[in-house]
Amino acid sequence: MRAVKTSLTGIKPTNTPHLGNYLGAIRPALELAKQYRSLYFIADYHALTTVRDPEVLRTSVYDVAATWLASGLDPEKTILFRQSAVPEVFELSWTLSCLLATGQLERGHSYKDALAKGDVPNAGIFYYPVLMAADILLYDTHVVPVGKDQKQHLELCRDVAQRANHVFGEGTLVVPEAHIGDAPLVPGTDGEKMSKSRGNGIPLFAPAKKLRKVVMGIKTGSETLEEPKDPEPSTVYQLCRQVSPEAAAEMAEKLRAGNYGWGHAKQALYETLEAELGPKRETYQALRADEAKLDALLEEGAERARVIARETMGRVRRAIGMTRPA
Ligand code: TRP
Repeated sequence: MRAVKTSLTGIKPTNTPHLGNYLGAIRPALELAKQYRSLYFIADYHALTTVRDPEVLRTSVYDVAATWLASGLDPEKTILFRQSAVPEVFELSWTLSCLLATGQLERGHSYKDALAKGDVPNAGIFYYPVLMAADILLYDTHVVPVGKDQKQHLELCRDVAQRANHVFGEGTLVVPEAHIGDAPLVPGTDGEKMSKSRGNGIPLFAPAKKLRKVVMGIKTGSETLEEPKDPEPSTVYQLCRQVSPEAAAEMAEKLRAGNYGWGHAKQALYETLEAELGPKRETYQALRADEAKLDALLEEGAERARVIARETMGRVRRAIGMTRPA
């Protein structure tokens, strides 16, 4: 058994990450690398449940890889790869599906939501949680950072791992734990939770001018310049605090003192963001312009991921009776 535990982060390549994704998901997921053997993979086969345009799939994978690398992912100390580069995941997902009752998949939130909306979901949407369980179990994962929306998927994953251990022998699979994100909510320009669908996002690697324009458009109170202001309820202050507590402390003091307008606060937030994101944006652009290099980095990661995957599948194959015991 390994002394260092494993964490695994799955990233669906379906939209360009915004500041909310960075603060709420990317930054905390990268923190795990200090403590765990950390794997990060781009879930391109999961994206296939909805993406139909090959060009979109191809470019989104590069967008996401460059975003995570620019955000600080170290491809030497961690393992970054494409889900589709490790075919063992399908061997394991089939095996897991044979241990799952169809009812458990019928109760899946995403599948039920699709039906409720009157969609005719494809079988991939139905099967999605099985593939996700295989993603996790294939790498002997102990810890999976996920948002609340993924909690049910993690429960199914734990269930099926426990069932496999019960049926085929303890130790066949590692039963993982969910780390449900406790990062504070990241407000968007309208003060509501930042989300792509609301159109209130702050772009992560847009040019500085565009970033400034979006920040200047954040909704604020309508106090006069002179009036002292309460920083706590303000979106500008809340965002600043999540990016730089030092800059936020300074902003809070000035707001409380008065003679400091919301325009000033927004300018300060913009400068704080630019200090954090400016250098990353440059790295992003350089990486994104070199798809061959991204392919090479992803392939190096995949080679290391396949070593782990083969070992797990070897164990599973013996456990289920497809090969002779060691
Ligand atoms: N379902 C996850 C999402 O929509 C992406 C994902 C796929 C994932 N496989 C995973 C996350 C395995 C964690 C572990 O965000």
